[in-house]
Amino acid sequence: MTTPKLNYDQIATQYNQRYPASQTWERGQTLLELAKQIKAQTILEVGSGTGFWLNLLSQTGGSLFGLDYSMGMLQQSKRQPAPLSLTRGLGTQLPYSSSAFDLLYCVDAIHHFGDHRAFIAEASRLLKPGGALAIIGHDPHEGGSNWYIYDYFDTVYDTDLRRYPAGSSILQWMEQEGFHNISSQTAEHIRNIHVGDAVLKDPFLKHNATSQLALLSEETYQAGMQRIRQALADAKEKAARIVFRSEIPVKMFLGYKPF
Ligand SMILES: C[S@@+](CC[C@H](N)C(=O)[O-])C[C@H]1O[C@@H](n2cnc3c(N)ncnc32)[C@H](O)[C@@H]1O
Repeated sequence: MTTPKLNYDQIATQYNQRYPASQTWERGQTLLELAKQIKAQTILEVGSGTGFWLNLLSQTGGSLFGLDYSMGMLQQSKRQPAPLSLTRGLGTQLPYSSSAFDLLYCVDAIHHFGDHRAFIAEASRLLKPGGALAIIGHDPHEGGSNWYIYDYFDTVYDTDLRRYPAGSSILQWMEQEGFHNISSQTAEHIRNIHVGDAVLKDPFLKHNATSQLALLSEETYQAGMQRIRQALADAKEKAARIVFRSEIPVKMFLGYKPF
């Protein structure tokens, strides 16, 4: 079976609803600390989307580069206050000269690149000696996630298992591509609990908010929504408290290019 692909152009204008201004993001802090620690002056995000993380990294004073396949997402990132050098391209064929970057990272994007190892090989080519590669995202292959979306919407979990590389594979590919000091850590632990009807206000429940739901047909999406509404109605009838959990560890896989 082929892995379904999502056209981000179609959801670009609504994408930033996942980043409410009121929220701080531990994974952003983790990335910022890493950039400061290695004194990164040239920074590339692959699959940079709307430029949210690049804008955060403007605090480093470094030069910020973003590459994304979606023109719609690149258009949105032009609205970021930080000056960004943006390029349209594929994560597996990065159009930059070798040894150009101190920090190369991706957030919630490697599962879209198709050939995950090719991306890691490109990262190795593009990093300066001592430069860091950080791959940040969810690993559905690892236990520890408890996300109600997987319970209520058909096919989503199985599709994620096909789309996402396992963390153990990422670490192995990093080693095979010559990275040193390879490690993994939890960069953020998403813990959102929606009690009762409050779940219907979860921004991540919108059809276009995440690739998990955006990949579903209208029919499959509505069937999942109907299951949620039914569960709410059943709980009300029994005067029971119903809780919908989004508990997701976000991992950071890190490796350094040897000097
Ligand atoms: C979930 S979004 C993440 C965006 C951003 N990193 C963030 O965390 O907000 C995934 C991004 O990967 C991009 N993308 C998908 N396939 C790609 C590919 N083959 N090469 C480069 N970017 C790709 C999409 O256009 C989208 O902007």
